[in-house]
Amino acid sequence: MKISPKMKKALNDQVTLEASASNSYLAMASWCEVIGYQGAADYFYVQSDEERTHMLKIVHYLNDMGATASIPATKAPLSSYKSLEGLIKTALKNEQTVTKAIHKMVEITQKEKDHSTYAFLEWFVNEQVQEETKFETILQKFDLLGRDKLAIHEIDKILATDAASPETAA
Ligand code: FEO
Repeated sequence: MKISPKMKKALNDQVTLEASASNSYLAMASWCEVIGYQGAADYFYVQSDEERTHMLKIVHYLNDMGATASIPATKAPLSSYKSLEGLIKTALKNEQTVTKAIHKMVEITQKEKDHSTYAFLEWFVNEQVQEETKFETILQKFDLLGRDKLAIHEIDKILATDAASPETAA
């Protein structure tokens, strides 16, 4: 069983996207830690690790299919943010970009009748629904609780709880 050159390129591009997401969330975590949003920092350190596992899944899949993964250099992520809300909005945008890329890959598998990659990508399709919902839910909190110091402190506490049990967050 082999994957097409087009599919291989798309999957390798996805490795880059997941690696960039991991770096970006690491930079967000670090910024939050310095500012004093410890809950958000914990949350984004966990997110960064999650993205690395996504990247690894694709690396292993490529290698298992005899296609050889390329490990990419990534652009330095943004290192400072205007606000916690702005940071979460950037995270949601990241996820929307990733979702689009995953959906594009699914379309390629359908065109090429590549059932193996189609089945492999199913997990990512579901994961993206959760990832987007997660960040949308956090953004809603700003509308519900407000944007003053006390509200942000509350949101930071919620993120600390989510970081402690990431699979039940969202
Ligand atoms: Fe791996 Fe959050 O997308």
